[in-house]
Amino acid sequence: FGKVKHARPMLSLNNGFHKDDIIDFVTRVRKFLSLSDETDAEFVAEPKIDGLSLNLRYEQGQLVQAATRGDGNEGEDVTANIKRVNAIPKTLTGMPPNILEVRGELYMNRNDFLALNNQQQDQGRRLFANPRNAAAGSLRQKNVDITAERNLQFFAYSLGETSAEIVPTHWELLAALRGFGFTVNDLSTKTQTIDGLLASYNAIGRTRPDLPFDIDGVVYKIDRHDFQARLGQLARAPRWALAHKFPAEQAETTVSAIDIQVGRTGALTPVARLHPISVGGVIVSNATLHNEDEIERKDIRIG
Ligand code: IVH
Repeated sequence: FGKVKHARPMLSLNNGFHKDDIIDFVTRVRKFLSLSDETDAEFVAEPKIDGLSLNLRYEQGQLVQAATRGDGNEGEDVTANIKRVNAIPKTLTGMPPNILEVRGELYMNRNDFLALNNQQQDQGRRLFANPRNAAAGSLRQKNVDITAERNLQFFAYSLGETSAEIVPTHWELLAALRGFGFTVNDLSTKTQTIDGLLASYNAIGRTRPDLPFDIDGVVYKIDRHDFQARLGQLARAPRWALAHKFPAEQAETTVSAIDIQVGRTGALTPVARLHPISVGGVIVSNATLHNEDEIERKDIRIG
């Protein structure tokens, strides 16, 4: 894969975990913009898709280049592979500007991931740990026919370089991206208050187990593009956005047996055989029991 220098760097996001982090974020943003208490600031809350980000470059409405994020400044040229992904438009609809770079997340649905792993197992091939790795592995194929078969999906959520301004807000951008032919996540909402942000976090969190794809949090973005520009970025992340992460997923299962595994050096490790359970996008069927304190504390036994 050749290298692609991004026309605009692809940033990462700052993370928040608790209500206090969200209060700090909104307070900091409002202070930076010198907003008075009477002035509302709109935010968009959208699911944080657990996939890999791509930059798609269109010229005169035609897809001319697709690149991975890489280190944020330089990614890999995956144009030939992306041209075979049905979910990504090759020709835009509507009235896009001459140069339009669209960014978003490439991902694989959970059912396609499970079917792919079954197929990998039947063929005696290596299994993918989760849908994200399966999507990454499916994209980085020398044989683009394999990429085409994998049913990869894409949600658009931001812009790179553009030759003209499209709309003044993020909310309108999501609608504009739909108009150009992209799929935009329909769980996104607009709100003005901290309580509104937390409500959207809880609402999206409740749908999480039933969604066809993996998400690992909710991204809050200040809506107005002029506010985004004023806020700018600090280090590698914008000041105008925050990823509110979900706690690691938990699940309960039963120990069906305990085997002793013999390592290469002769070290013995007990391994719990579990009733297979799906958690965080992976099927867990074994767990090493090397941590004696924890085993005692949790009183882990067969059954
Ligand atoms: S916005 C400047 N929105 O999360 C803002 N990112 O942890 C750039 N991601 O590299 C990102 N869902 O790959 C944004 N709705 C979403 C997202 C999202 C997933 C990923 C993206 C980014 C990473 C940062």
